[in-house]
Amino acid sequence: MSCVDTVMELRSVSYQYLGRFPALDGVSFTVGRGERVALLGANGCGKSTVLKVLDGLVFPDRGSYDAFAVPVTEDALEDDQFVTAFRSRVGFVFQNSDAQVFSPTVREEVAFGPLQMGLDSPDVERRVDDVLAMLEIAHLADRAPHQLSGGQKKRVAVASVLVMNPEVLLFDEPTAALDPRAQQWLVALIAELHASGKTIIIATHDLDRLEAIADRCIVFSEDHELVADGPTRAILDDVALLQRVNLVHDHAHVHAQEPAHRHLHGRGHHQLAG
Ligand SMILES: Nc1ncnc2c1ncn2[C@@H]1O[C@H](COP(=O)(O)OP(=O)(O)OP(=O)(O)O)[C@@H](O)[C@H]1O
Ligand SMILES: [Mg+2]
Repeated sequence: MSCVDTVMELRSVSYQYLGRFPALDGVSFTVGRGERVALLGANGCGKSTVLKVLDGLVFPDRGSYDAFAVPVTEDALEDDQFVTAFRSRVGFVFQNSDAQVFSPTVREEVAFGPLQMGLDSPDVERRVDDVLAMLEIAHLADRAPHQLSGGQKKRVAVASVLVMNPEVLLFDEPTAALDPRAQQWLVALIAELHASGKTIIIATHDLDRLEAIADRCIVFSEDHELVADGPTRAILDDVALLQRVNLVHDHAHVHAQEPAHRHLHGRGHHQLAG
């Protein structure tokens, strides 16, 4: 039985794309309200797939996923009432903003979700204005989103998610392709959202900013298994683990206790003390 504070729970989730490309293998974890969690692992380990499961975009082949203590299944998401509630509580900022922006103008893009929710026009306008101001993109309101720069598109994508005021925010590689100033801005925004009580789950391989964006890390191996789940500091200090999942190179950490190659094919679940 899950406790009151559990917002999301994956139980032994396995998933293969098209029934033959493995992406997740027996993954279990829970996320509590207000937590700030990073999903870590090398390219192709399954981070984006976890976020897609959490957003109800793909469904486990085996195992189960509950959000807010309710099973999230294909059937459940066919129910209009359920899908509207779920979509308003969970927001997803994609890895690739081009896949997320499609409206003729930034204003329409950001208004799309609230209008879908059935909010009336004055309320939508007010929300959109607030979010555009908050993300410092009011001056882009009448521009075409697909013509904006990568960093501007990212802000629009974040705006279109925040305008819904979701409880849970899923970010896929949020700082990738942003310049240093924009990265700093996004890290600060994530901290602010966390402080305001949001639950935040971020897929990343940016180890440098990890402590600024997450208190807990869930680590995936290249064979799509969850291999560690613990406080960010403990994960960062576990050089052998980071080498084993190919997040750091052998030569990058001269203080490693053992050469990385000994760990490459090792398995086992590191349970790190909280
Ligand atoms: N649409 C798809 N069709 C087939 N296989 C896919 C698809 N999307 C992902 N995969 C495969 O699933 C596995 C996990 O992919 P996923 O995108 O979740 O990894 P990731 O950890 O997010 O990687 P990255 O760091 O490169 O973003 C990979 O082996 C990938 O090739
Ligand atoms: Mg990814």
